[in-house]
Amino acid sequence: MAKNGFHLLCILFTLSLPSTLSRSYLPTSIGEISELDVSASIQKTLDVLSLTPRPLQSQMVSSFDLSSSLSSFSPLTLQLHSRASVHKSSHQDYESVMLARLARDSARVESIQTRLDLAVNGVRKADLKPVNTELAAADLEVPVISGTSQGSGEYFCRVGIGRPASQVYMVLDTGSDVNWVQCAPCGDCYQQADPIFEPTSSSSYSPLTCDTHQCKSLDVSECRNGTCLYEVSYGDGSYTVGDFVTETVTLEGSTAVQNIAIGCGHNNEGLFVGAAGLIGLGGGALSFPSQINATSYSYCLVDRDSDSASTLEFNSPMPHDAITAPLLRSSKLDTFYYVGLRGMSVAGQLLHIPSSVFKLTGDGNAGVIVDSGTAVTRLQTEAYNELRDAFVKGTKELPSAAGVALFDTCYNLSQKKSVQVPTVAFHFSNGQKLDLPAKNYLIPVDSSGTFCFAFAPTSSSLSIVGNVQQQGTRVSYDLQNSLIGFSPNKC
Ligand SMILES: *[C@@H]1O[C@H](CO)[C@@H](O)[C@H](O)[C@H]1NC(C)=O
Ligand SMILES: *[C@@H]1O[C@H](CO)[C@@H](O)[C@H](O)[C@H]1NC(C)=O
Ligand SMILES: *[C@@H]1O[C@H](CO)[C@@H](O)[C@H](O)[C@H]1NC(C)=O
Repeated sequence: MAKNGFHLLCILFTLSLPSTLSRSYLPTSIGEISELDVSASIQKTLDVLSLTPRPLQSQMVSSFDLSSSLSSFSPLTLQLHSRASVHKSSHQDYESVMLARLARDSARVESIQTRLDLAVNGVRKADLKPVNTELAAADLEVPVISGTSQGSGEYFCRVGIGRPASQVYMVLDTGSDVNWVQCAPCGDCYQQADPIFEPTSSSSYSPLTCDTHQCKSLDVSECRNGTCLYEVSYGDGSYTVGDFVTETVTLEGSTAVQNIAIGCGHNNEGLFVGAAGLIGLGGGALSFPSQINATSYSYCLVDRDSDSASTLEFNSPMPHDAITAPLLRSSKLDTFYYVGLRGMSVAGQLLHIPSSVFKLTGDGNAGVIVDSGTAVTRLQTEAYNELRDAFVKGTKELPSAAGVALFDTCYNLSQKKSVQVPTVAFHFSNGQKLDLPAKNYLIPVDSSGTFCFAFAPTSSSLSIVGNVQQQGTRVSYDLQNSLIGFSPNKC
């Protein structure tokens, strides 16, 4: 059994804000006060714009078949590289980088909430508006909601589809389950960097019949001539429709997994930033980790606007010093990973937030999910106001600045080299506590010293722990033991 990690070249695309401190500038957290290195954060915003992307190296190694040997304990390590390391920014200044990200972030949150509403309120297919495409035709239906795509804020990864493997970039999405790739013939395909996948040139392409468990696991499916059609809509206007098939998925330089259920999308709408498709990492039966029977997976978000690398790992043990929290599942929607959160504190003082605000109910309402694609943590307005007020109270000596986009609490730190701010912490329902480093909640929004408190209110009952707050932290999903682990500085 291969014990070494299987390496896969990936690109990290996130909606997130840049990591503001490098390792040598790690903030010190003394008791209930944390230090933010303002100068280093500002320097980072300048560096982002002048990064020279590296060419991607191809690491093709002859693949071997893993299907027979893939046990739940085979570790799989995928390398993630930041978007900036391969993609030159078209923005002129950091503020426009930031505003574009925050706009995408709002679209992402809206799409998550839409999907949850559909699941909780039990909206039936028949209630949904049909999409106007040839293939969706009479059968498949989708909610059409105007909005930009959620697609840009994800991890990208190079994988092979079919046999022989066609190498393509795929988005890695922790917020959805169904894997899919744009497929010829295209009724409607958006632009992608690699050639469109051609099913007729793959010997392992095999349509699924309608009576298969994979077909039955789809939220929206239809039968045509006995074979399974799928449709996934992301709640924000983007969607994919096509044949639901099994294919061989090859992780670059390593290993081929046979019979992965994947959508062969002939009609695809949305902005998936040049990727050929998507690998779903959610908790549902059709997600990639579920299909390979992964017992766990973890990722680390580091310096997203720099060229440092991080990894996505399957079946790796949780770091033993991880701060753990209960991993909860909703009875209504198995895609999302909920965390048992009891409360939050500022400078060691637990906030007065009713525990019901964070508690996932039996009917799938409220609760807190951990999402890698959402940048800024969203809290119910009541909880946000408590948090914000406590933070403002503890930062009275800092010069304030006008709000920016969804941030209402900003500071003008242009005259500071570093500042001390109250520590913000999550308190989990098992009694463990995660202190956030200051750079994970006080972030630059331009290059001239404006920093904002990076939490935002939401009118939805669902709270989301976003990736700004996960920065520099390895987040482990122990699916077997229902635990989420947070390991600060374990990237
Ligand atoms: C259904 O299958 C038949 C025979 O294989 C084929 O001729 C026909 O074109 C198919 N119909 C559709 C809608 O794909
Ligand atoms: C995962 O488990 C299922 C059910 O036990 C099994 O049928 C399937 O072959 C397994 N998949 C892999 C890739 O090991
Ligand atoms: C921040 O403060 C500096 C110095 O007091 C001032 O020159 C600058 O205009 C302020 N910036 C903003 C955005 O208010």
